[in-house]
Amino acid sequence: MQDESGLAGILLPPHAAAKAGNDVIYAWLARYQQAAAEGKDVVNGTIGALLDDEGELVFNPAVAEAITRLPDLDKGAYSPLPGLPAYRDTARTLAIGPRLDEMEAAGFSTEAVASPGGCGALYLSARNMLSPGDSILVRSTYWGPYRTIADECGLGLTDWPLVADSNELGHSVDKVALSSRLDNLVTSQGRVLAWLNDPAHNPTGMSLNSAERNDVMNCFLEAARANPEAGFTLLLDTAYALYADEPHGWTDTVIPHIENWPDNLILCWAFSTSKSHTIYGLRCGAIVFAHPDRGLLDRMVPMFVHTGRGTWSGSPRLPQAAVAMIHNDSGLETMWDATRAGQSQVLEIRREGLLKAASEVHFDPSNDGYFAHVPDPDPVSLCEEIAKHGVYLVPLAKGVRIGVCSLPTHAAERVGRAISEAWSTLDRRS
Ligand SMILES: Cc1ncc(COP(=O)(O)O)c(C=O)c1O
Repeated sequence: MQDESGLAGILLPPHAAAKAGNDVIYAWLARYQQAAAEGKDVVNGTIGALLDDEGELVFNPAVAEAITRLPDLDKGAYSPLPGLPAYRDTARTLAIGPRLDEMEAAGFSTEAVASPGGCGALYLSARNMLSPGDSILVRSTYWGPYRTIADECGLGLTDWPLVADSNELGHSVDKVALSSRLDNLVTSQGRVLAWLNDPAHNPTGMSLNSAERNDVMNCFLEAARANPEAGFTLLLDTAYALYADEPHGWTDTVIPHIENWPDNLILCWAFSTSKSHTIYGLRCGAIVFAHPDRGLLDRMVPMFVHTGRGTWSGSPRLPQAAVAMIHNDSGLETMWDATRAGQSQVLEIRREGLLKAASEVHFDPSNDGYFAHVPDPDPVSLCEEIAKHGVYLVPLAKGVRIGVCSLPTHAAERVGRAISEAWSTLDRRS
């Protein structure tokens, strides 16, 4: 019999054999669970889902109610391939926000195609807005699966800094670096696809303010105008937006530019209901896209549907129907929004407690959403030192991720103190 690696070498082609799972989050969760089972007084900041102060998963009751009201058809049947029409409208409305009509009146047409989560929308853009061998433009700290999605599509990643070096007056966009990356991509591949996870970036919790959004927007507008033969796609990954202070800030930023919009720039949103509706496992999202030319959008719908058909077939119908029902029923929508708003407040209180108790620690900008992040050259050592205080966090590639979403509120300050003490013990101040 062949040894395992020999057999893998025979059965698995090299591109597949090179793939690996990412179990660092589960490994640190398991350590927390083990310590808790031993009766130790420990805190769990490892999970990337909203937990209440007792550590139970928050499930929005409006979603539970909508699911029980659904007819069997919506529970068992296939979805139309582009998604249920009512859900596609809801996705556009929730991604773009209350100024959707204004955006359309200013000259944009908008469309949506359902996808299994925001991840599916990212995949649809990767498969269709670039050619294999190209690279996607991301920021220098990014959600790990960006790399996995790019790999699966035969694409690379190229990055620009999350925060500019000279962080003057809270202005953190490195416009020079961004414009230079855009120019390089135009030269090397003739098309640009940028994924921008804003607001409430994972893993930092950073949200661009209105001046910063405008800086980013202007870099794209200028690059598109200067290179009319190149195609630009700016995709906003808004997975956490409905827990941010300005959930639809990008709509405010874009509207004044529509009148003078370059044809070779398309705006997309990777819309996700995983967090906003607490239905992570139901796999419900959409790619939403906007451009002045209706004909272009009509051409893109079957293109995205084709990729979906050849990858996951159709998106699940049940969550689409439930989400559409909630947003077409004022009672259910009010119930949904009360939980969403309440949880946003909980996140804010936890973040405040955490940051206040660790005021001398250097965090990445931390404004909204599920996470906070301490950049560090040796995140595993820092996590180990923090764990000595009974606090379990996650060492990522460039720092330590704190799951503000999973910390009990009463433990937020304790977590801040543990980070602060670990930081001093390891002499990170210098
Ligand atoms: C930054 C970011 N983008 C997109 C997603 C997509 O989530 P889903 O596919 O569950 O909608 C996530 C989920 O964790 C995320 O953190």
